[in-house]
Amino acid sequence: MINRTPVPGDAADLAVFAGTSPYEDYVHASVLGSLQQPFTDAPDEMGFLVTTQVMELWFKLIVHEWRAACDAFAKQDLPAALDALERSRRAHLSLNASWTPLAALTPVRFNGFRAAFGKASGAQSVRYRMMEFLLGEKSDAILDAHRGDPVEHSELGEHLHAPSLWDEALHYLHSQGHEVPQAVLQRDVTQAYEPDEGVVEVWRRIYRGPQHDPLLRLGELLTDIAESVERWRTDHLLVVRRAMGARPGSAGTSGLDWLDRRARRRVFPELWTVRSDV
Ligand code: HEM
Repeated sequence: MINRTPVPGDAADLAVFAGTSPYEDYVHASVLGSLQQPFTDAPDEMGFLVTTQVMELWFKLIVHEWRAACDAFAKQDLPAALDALERSRRAHLSLNASWTPLAALTPVRFNGFRAAFGKASGAQSVRYRMMEFLLGEKSDAILDAHRGDPVEHSELGEHLHAPSLWDEALHYLHSQGHEVPQAVLQRDVTQAYEPDEGVVEVWRRIYRGPQHDPLLRLGELLTDIAESVERWRTDHLLVVRRAMGARPGSAGTSGLDWLDRRARRRVFPELWTVRSDV
C-alpha cells in the first residue's frame, strides 16, 4: 500500500456525509438531474430538452425579479426596484446566451426527435406567459388555454389580474410628480397595454432633463430589458428558420410567419418612440 501525503485541495479534504450532502439538501441536484427524460435516442434531443429546461429556469428567475421590482415600485422604493431590474437584466443576458446549443440544429437532426414530442410547444410555457403579462402583453385567450391545469391557470391568472411592471413604473413616475394621464393610471390592467402619447411626453421630459436623473437610469434599464426580450424573440425566430424552415409549428400555428409577426411587437413602445424626438 502506498502512503500518500495529503495534498492541500485533495478530494480527501472533503467531509463524509451521514446522509445527503448539504449541497444536495439546498440545490436538489438529484431531483433536477432526474427531470431529463428524452423520448428518443436521437443525439440532439438531450441538448434540446436541457436547453428548454434551462430557459424555463431563467424565465422563473426573471419573473421573480420583475415581481420584486413591482413590489418595490408599489413601496416607492426606487433603489430596490433598480436593483431587481438590474438583476433581471443580467439574467436575461444569460437566457439569451442559452440559445447557443440549438443555434445550428439542421432539419434532419431536429426531425430525429420532433415527432416524438407531438403537440408540445414552447408556446405552452406558462412562465413565458407570466413574463409577457408582466411586460403588459396581457391576454385572456392565453390564460384560458391553460384552464385544464388548475394550478398553472391560477398562478397565471394572478399575473393577468396584477398591474404589469410597466403599470407599476408609471404609477411610480406619477408619484414623483410626472403627469401620467389618469386614463393610463386607472386602466383595466387585465387588458393588453396600449401605447399612450401622454406617457411618451412624460419620458420625453425625463430624457431631455438632467442626464444623471435616476429616472433616466430607470428608462434605460427598462430599454435594456425591452431590447433583451426582443433579441430573445429574434434569436428564437432564427433557430426556428434554421431547424424547420417554414413548416407549421407543433402547437398548430403557421410557424415562422406567426412567430415573425409576434417578434415584431415592441416592448415598452413609448421608450422607443421617445428616442425619435428628444
Ligand atoms: C429547435 C428549437 C425550436 C423550434 C424549432 C421552435 C419552434 C417554435 C414554433 C414553430 C413556435 C410557434 C408555435 C407552434 O406552433 O409551435 C414556437 C413558439 C414558442 N417557442 Fe419555440 N422552438 C424552439 C425552441 C424553443 C425553446 C428552447 C424555447 C424555450 C422555452 C421555446 C419557447 C417558445 C415560446 C415561448 C413560444 C411562444 C412564442 C410566442 O407566443 O410569441 N422554443 N416555437
